Amino acid sequence: MNRKYRKTVIAGNWKMNKTPSETKEFMQNLKALLPKGRWCDVALCVPAICIPAAVRAMRETRVGIGAENCNANPSGAYTGEISTGMLVDAGCKYVIIGHSERRAMGETDQDVNAKVLSALEAGLIPIMCCGESLEQRQSGITSEWIAMQIKLGLQNVPEEKIRKVVIAYEPIWAIGTGMTATPEQAQEVCESIRTVVRKLYTSKTARTVSILYGGSMNEKNAFELLAQPDIDGGLIGGASLVPEKFVQIIEAANQPTV
Ligand code: PGA
Repeated sequence: MNRKYRKTVIAGNWKMNKTPSETKEFMQNLKALLPKGRWCDVALCVPAICIPAAVRAMRETRVGIGAENCNANPSGAYTGEISTGMLVDAGCKYVIIGHSERRAMGETDQDVNAKVLSALEAGLIPIMCCGESLEQRQSGITSEWIAMQIKLGLQNVPEEKIRKVVIAYEPIWAIGTGMTATPEQAQEVCESIRTVVRKLYTSKTARTVSILYGGSMNEKNAFELLAQPDIDGGLIGGASLVPEKFVQIIEAANQPTV
């Protein structure tokens, strides 16, 4: 983390877990556990149907609610889809874009880019995900692959808007597997992402972009990962479903590091 230049963000990704009633219960429990005083930015990205319950429960807190996906079109004949404008109206602040689980369902870098542009236009903070598979890592093409995802995902994002984008590095082999990347592995890729952003924009801008790590981050390994200079937070799946664990990760992010 480098709190001097950029925000620390701890974001939960619930995926397809919890009902609206369970959301209400979770948020009540979380509220009781949240640390007092100043802390990092906290986001909880929840299933679309849970957004109203989450927004209602967290209204008086600094926890921002987010969606896990969006459609890039403003409105129209897209049965089952949800626009970024609808998410804003429902009280969302964040939206996860290009998660590897959605890419596996057919989402392309062009789709990711269109969604990022739409989210920014609507005033949402996009959490744009990138990450390599185990095969890609083993064949030594991780940094090229990630650089391509970042370049395509950020196409036509103007300089003044890039500061609003949060990037999440999530190695696919580490997601939900308990196989966390080592702090050094995660740092290496997050640093390379910052280099790509620097080349696309300026070094001043690259310094301000928050880059998160995701993939089996939990209350035990969070501190060590967050102590890395280019890891500005976490995108947390499994551990964000348990209030006690999620709060411990927030607390790890609040501790003084480098
Ligand atoms: P995990 O998921 O923390 O359960 O590995 C992370 C993610 O997919 O965002």
